Amino acid sequence: MTLPHLDTAAAESLLAFWRDAGVDACFEDAPVDRTHVAPPPAIKAVARATASIVATAHSGDAVAEARRLAAGADTLEALGAAITGFEGCPLRGMGAQQAVFCRGNPQAEVLVIGEGPGAEEDARGQPFVGKAGKLLDRMLAEAGLEGRVFITNTVFWRPPGNRTPTPAEQAVCAPFVERAFVLLKPKAVLLVGAAASKSVLGVDEGIMRLRGQWKEWRLAEGAVSAPALPTLHPAFLLRQPLAKRQVWADLLSLAARLQVDG
Ligand code: URA
Repeated sequence: MTLPHLDTAAAESLLAFWRDAGVDACFEDAPVDRTHVAPPPAIKAVARATASIVATAHSGDAVAEARRLAAGADTLEALGAAITGFEGCPLRGMGAQQAVFCRGNPQAEVLVIGEGPGAEEDARGQPFVGKAGKLLDRMLAEAGLEGRVFITNTVFWRPPGNRTPTPAEQAVCAPFVERAFVLLKPKAVLLVGAAASKSVLGVDEGIMRLRGQWKEWRLAEGAVSAPALPTLHPAFLLRQPLAKRQVWADLLSLAARLQVDG
């Protein structure tokens, strides 16, 4: 076997270049999880089935309790108190400091629904008060919507590490979100980000496809419905500022719709 000719000087020069660029370790293309010892498939299947049965039974009870509490709230203030007293959301026991329900105008024409509280919201007890929230406020104001929105989230407790809330966590909180919708009776709903859009509309399309397209949010029970507009999340805009133009178009569409519908 003949080894390929090795140009030592060229190799050293390339290594020096990588080192100066900050590359100080070598990895394989795909990560290797060396901490994981896979249990035999049969045990895995039993564990999965058990976890799913326990989660379903538990969340069924919690959803029923959330519905009962939400139905008993006749004002947005009472709804906030009901949420604070509700113990059925699993996120409560995962490190959240307090319930985060709403901020904004309780007579607003627009209901804004985001994903869930982050660290700043968890500390201050109000939704969208961090960096992303400030950007959202600025854009709403530019579109002439300042003071015309009531803001909440699909879940009221901060998911650990700011992860996306699971559909089960959103389902447990949904009766409260729906009650806010019934009590506010907004002219329009702005769905901020993929998690809120998918959860509220019950669809599984990507946000890039959904955004900018008006849908109707109609509750199964009760006669409440309103046009709902999915848009991109402001946290995404902080990473991808060019996408602001799409959200700007969505907010102008929202403002125009409010004008047309009076
Ligand atoms: N992101 C959200 O979706 N909601 C908040 O309240 C804050 C950040």
